[in-house]
Amino acid sequence: MIVLVKLFINGFGNIGRRLASALATDKEIQLVGVAKYSIDDKVKEALENHFDVYVPNESINNFKERGYSVTGSIEEAVKRCDLVVDAAKEGVGYDNKKNFYEPMNKPAIFQGGEERNGERAVADIIHNSRVNYDKAAGKRYVIQGSCNVSGMGRIMQPLIEKFGDRIRRFDIELVRRWADLEDSKAVKDSIEWDRNPHHQDDVKDFIPNANLYVDAFKVPSRMMHLHHMFVRFSDGVVPNKDEILECFRDEFGVAVISSAKGTGDVRKKALELGFPHGDTNMVHIHQDILRVQEDTVKVAYSDDQTGMVIPENHLLIQSMAFKRSRNEALSRTDNLFQMSKRRAILEEEFK
Ligand SMILES: NC(=O)c1ccc[n+]([C@@H]2O[C@H](COP(=O)([O-])OP(=O)(O)OC[C@H]3O[C@@H](n4cnc5c(N)ncnc54)[C@H](OP(=O)(O)O)[C@@H]3O)[C@@H](O)[C@H]2O)c1
Repeated sequence: MIVLVKLFINGFGNIGRRLASALATDKEIQLVGVAKYSIDDKVKEALENHFDVYVPNESINNFKERGYSVTGSIEEAVKRCDLVVDAAKEGVGYDNKKNFYEPMNKPAIFQGGEERNGERAVADIIHNSRVNYDKAAGKRYVIQGSCNVSGMGRIMQPLIEKFGDRIRRFDIELVRRWADLEDSKAVKDSIEWDRNPHHQDDVKDFIPNANLYVDAFKVPSRMMHLHHMFVRFSDGVVPNKDEILECFRDEFGVAVISSAKGTGDVRKKALELGFPHGDTNMVHIHQDILRVQEDTVKVAYSDDQTGMVIPENHLLIQSMAFKRSRNEALSRTDNLFQMSKRRAILEEEFK
């Protein structure tokens, strides 16, 4: 017998629409529907994909007057589901928690734009499937780390497990895309810095002992993020390039590639290969620029901003809703997203 979890996706933006199309194909998940707040083309997209659309109570008539068939209110959808995946625009998840999830006693997964600390904190844990998958089981509210934070955990943890105390510190220069491909906002011709990047604290939430420093710069691109990571080792014990790459030989969601010249090559290849939404859903270590210099290993990897967190959310559902072991969860997520197969394709394309 197939056990079903009834799931509502609150938000249908860049992340929500990707979650909906992926999770709807999982036979164990019954998608109650998706939420729309604005009347725009995305309502049509949701309906064409046969997703039930829920909207704020006060907007139901407006949507209907515009000819959109709406199933009910956000409140009704939350009532009907067992678990909410909140994919709201940054910072709104807190209000959703207070207005709907808590009063109706529904567990929820929040996305990386929500607060982990302070007055508007939505949860007391940030999930990273590589590091703290088991800790999410039994939690009612969990934040899925952002794309960058997910990528950092995926690269740092295997290095920590292999080299441990030999690593003195991690420094990451995070080069961020300005906007996603689907965003209508203009890309400004500037390099902007972040005075207080959240990534450092977010990663320390699940790797508390990491001696980590992050700086983030936004550049005029829509094509993925690039992390330039400097791993500093204790004197005289720095590993060679092969030893570093060996750590990632069998890592879920990590491709090791050689011939890409930039992030745009990887994104365009994903589009050309017909990967869903043009996402690779993983990080890609660019081994052609992996360097070892004195006490420092320099690793550069691109991070698929829109795709990274989609399998991560699926893994988190395996923990929160099904209480599965990490190995079983990985196998199910790999099967649904064809991660191993797509990794092999990318490694062959960029060998
Ligand atoms: N984009 C990325 O690359 C990325 C990667 C990782 C994590 N994230 C995180 O994922 C979250 C969503 O980001 P996004 O890029 O998908 O944003 P987005 O494209 O701007 O979409 C935000 C969605 O929020 C909806 N919304 C508006 N008010 C809402 C409410 N009260 N409750 C629920 N939804 C509401 C909007 O609906 P309408 O369109 O109908 O107004 C829209 O569908 C953020 O926390 C972000 O930090 C984003």
